[in-house]
Amino acid sequence: MEISGTELVYFSPTGTTRRVLNGIAKGLGYERVGMLDVTMTQSREWGEGVGDADNVVVIGAPVYAGRVAATAAERIKQLEGKGRAAVVVVVYGNRDYDDALLELSDLAKAAGFVVVAGGAFIGEHSFSTDECELAVGRPDEVDANAAVSFGEQVRGKLDGLSGLGDVEGVGLPGNAEYKDGMSVNDMGPSTDEGKCGMCGICVEVCPVDAISMEGFELKTDMQKCILCGACVRECRVGARALDDERIEGIRQRLKAGCEVRREPEVFV
Ligand SMILES: Cc1cc2nc3c(=O)[nH]c(=O)nc-3n(C[C@H](O)[C@H](O)[C@H](O)COP(=O)(O)O)c2cc1C
Ligand code: SF4
Ligand code: SF4
Repeated sequence: MEISGTELVYFSPTGTTRRVLNGIAKGLGYERVGMLDVTMTQSREWGEGVGDADNVVVIGAPVYAGRVAATAAERIKQLEGKGRAAVVVVVYGNRDYDDALLELSDLAKAAGFVVVAGGAFIGEHSFSTDECELAVGRPDEVDANAAVSFGEQVRGKLDGLSGLGDVEGVGLPGNAEYKDGMSVNDMGPSTDEGKCGMCGICVEVCPVDAISMEGFELKTDMQKCILCGACVRECRVGARALDDERIEGIRQRLKAGCEVRREPEVFV
């Protein structure tokens, strides 16, 4: 079937989901590639943003507690698929993606897309630190090649279809009764005031506007914070840290239980 271009739609606070989607776009091979980054609250109109009617839309989100990150889910619900083909992609930190891929597919269908394929890829865990490395460096070259190859497989499938009416359901793993996601949160990164130069970068990169500057003080609204790690990664002087002891506990459990390298899985 005729597809005119690729639109990448992603929520990606620490950038791994975005990188995986770029690889998939390369494999799809359509000349025109558009991007709708729904990570920040000031993103352009989400509903309208998926481009031409004959685009294939690649929708990517990170896995949080075995589910689609809730903020991503809220934003994906606002898209208007209008019968466009969609590829759903979750990126997780080498523990597991549990029900997230199925959930993302359900979200895409509810928003009016026809899901033609799905994939689960691995990205450096948002909680990874120099002292406790979790899936560091991923997606790496092997993952990048897998993303391109997935895009090529999807292109082959699309080229072989006469229309989206031919698409049979894609069997994706996961339970229809999704596992419980993250419970209400009262944690967030701390700021080392001795290091912080009040540059404001963390305020700009926070996907949920949880950080504010009040006079010469940086405040984090722990009820709003989704623990995404963007401010920690982007602070150039290392003043932000996810060092709550409960997060440190999770880190240690992940380190002990998720050492075995997991590989991308695709469903075409
Ligand atoms: C709050 C939170 C919960 C997470 N839960 C999981 C999980 O259940 N399984 C997993 O393997 N990785 C989990 N991760 C890791 C992310 O899925 C992973 O780091 C992903 O690559 C982040 O995507 P991004 O770089 O696009 O933000 C979690 C990360 C955060 C911040
Ligand atoms: S990015 Fe770092 S230095 Fe800049 S305001 Fe935030 S904590 Fe301070
Ligand atoms: S304050 Fe929380 S939600 Fe905002 S960027 Fe930092 S970790 Fe992410």
